[in-house]
Amino acid sequence: MSGRIPRQFIDDLLVRIDIVDLIDSRVPLKKSGSNFTARCPFHAEKTPSFSVNRGKQIYHCFGCGASGNAIGFLMEFNHLGFVEAVEDLAAFAGVDVPRELVDNEPGLPDKKNVSHVYDVLAGVAGFYAEQLRGNAEGRVAVDYLKARGVSGEVARDFLLGYAPSKWDALVARFGQADLVEAGMLVVKDDGKVYDRFRGRLMFPIRDRRKRVIGFGGRVLDSSLPKYLNSPETVVFSKSKELYGIYELLERNSKPERILVVEGYMDVIALAQFGIFNAVAALGTATSKMQIDLLFRFTSELVFCFDGDNAGRQAAWKATEAALPCLRDGRQIKIMLLPQGQDPDSLLRTENLSAFTERIRSAQVLSDYFFQNIAGLSDLSTVEGRSQLLAAAKPALEKVPAGFFREMMFARLQELTATRIAVDVVENQTRLKSKFGVGKVAQSPRVSLARKVIALLLQHPNFAGLVEKDGVVLDELSFAGVELLRDVLRRIALEKPENSAILLESYRETSQEKAIKALAGLELDVPVGGEEAEFCGALKQLCKQAKEAMLNGLIEKESREGLVFEEKEMLRKLLRDKT
Ligand code: UTP
Ligand code: MN
Repeated sequence: MSGRIPRQFIDDLLVRIDIVDLIDSRVPLKKSGSNFTARCPFHAEKTPSFSVNRGKQIYHCFGCGASGNAIGFLMEFNHLGFVEAVEDLAAFAGVDVPRELVDNEPGLPDKKNVSHVYDVLAGVAGFYAEQLRGNAEGRVAVDYLKARGVSGEVARDFLLGYAPSKWDALVARFGQADLVEAGMLVVKDDGKVYDRFRGRLMFPIRDRRKRVIGFGGRVLDSSLPKYLNSPETVVFSKSKELYGIYELLERNSKPERILVVEGYMDVIALAQFGIFNAVAALGTATSKMQIDLLFRFTSELVFCFDGDNAGRQAAWKATEAALPCLRDGRQIKIMLLPQGQDPDSLLRTENLSAFTERIRSAQVLSDYFFQNIAGLSDLSTVEGRSQLLAAAKPALEKVPAGFFREMMFARLQELTATRIAVDVVENQTRLKSKFGVGKVAQSPRVSLARKVIALLLQHPNFAGLVEKDGVVLDELSFAGVELLRDVLRRIALEKPENSAILLESYRETSQEKAIKALAGLELDVPVGGEEAEFCGALKQLCKQAKEAMLNGLIEKESREGLVFEEKEMLRKLLRDKT
């Protein structure tokens, strides 16, 4: 269902649930003082530095800096998008997620409610599965599967089915309008309809949430086209979905690596041999969206391609598509199979251990990239080297900043033996200064302003303590004052019941990062002393700011004189001082 989730619902949800219970159900927590702790689920560590605070309803890791509220936890821990995390959190609280109705833009299909499309697709998948088992015609498909070594168990796991060779098998059972919307019928020019899939072995394509969204259908003989696929519909987009993703995640939600193969039958054959971590792109080149999706579940992808010309071309296309996705900590390998083989045929001609050995020794993407691109030019000549440079640089520029990018450019530099692009050098110096090479990393001293904002984020009710008379915050200027004012404004406006809700209101704003860091800041304040600390720090901060302003105004007065407002301010500041 589409439509925005009302903000009020999210805030209520964050009040209703307890982050301690939520996290404890995933990562067992131990009580320690006023906090609950555990070994951090987001980085490897021996001693616990992950802490969850019931009062603030936020978590924070002193080791890796991860922090956030319950929604943020689910997004990180279960690799979910925001909406998915809210849905899961609502499920945890046992409530339904309401949606604001959105008016459809003219010309766009009605996207308000597509549940009837999912329903009809689920019904059709069930019908096809029945046809495979319970009817004479379906037996041909069962024999076909048997001949290809597919067991009944695997067929069941993947919900394989059979589409009878009639023109109206579906229309006789399901509503025509729904079937058309679901892409299951072909509509002729004269408006007449017939079943899209006839006499085919059917592969239902399911999304991560088990919903059938489309089908692939294979002929049982050598007629053409070998495969038919569902067209794009309101619930099915080929460039976003992957065959086998549901079946994979159901077995293992965090696989060490995921194999990306070319065909439906490859995924099936791998499962038959006990390899359940494979998915297939849906007859199109693997998209950036699909790669990013897969990296939510694993840190290593192995692309598997046929060793023929078409396969090599596909591998190169995938390599180029993958470059922008290669952040640090993500690994892609390329596995080229012997000419004319696919994983299915290879598993049957070789054996399982030979195949897993191939997976393990797949070539890392950087090697594959340079081997291919360098192979095109003669590097013993200047022309060849500049040709390589011209070909490789635009591709590598798509790699996001990080060590992987640096390494790739360093290697290109080595190969071409030239100094390339100033931006690489700049990048390197930026990285160096960012990580303070040569210096021991040290947490910056907590400035007064940071302390005030941090305490305010951790205790939104402190906003009431900010003085309303004398020279007020609105007139002062110091580093961080904008952020402080913004936090105060939001608290006044939204009256958040806890830190988690306040944090939530900063999601996807430019201040989010700073706010999260400050909310998780560990301040050396004794328990119970936070309020006094806040008042003291705020007072001192204002005093310093006033002092600085006063000095500035006095200096300006003697230098060039003051305008009216400045004189007023000076008078006010002097009055406050006494
Ligand atoms: P393959 O021909 O390699 O498929 O095409 P396969 O799964 O190995 O099939 P078998 O082993 O011959 O039974 C790879 C993928 O390309 C798409 C399908 O998604 C297929 O799985 N394809 C292929 C089509 O969409 N249409 C076609 O006509 C052929
Ligand atoms: Mn095949």
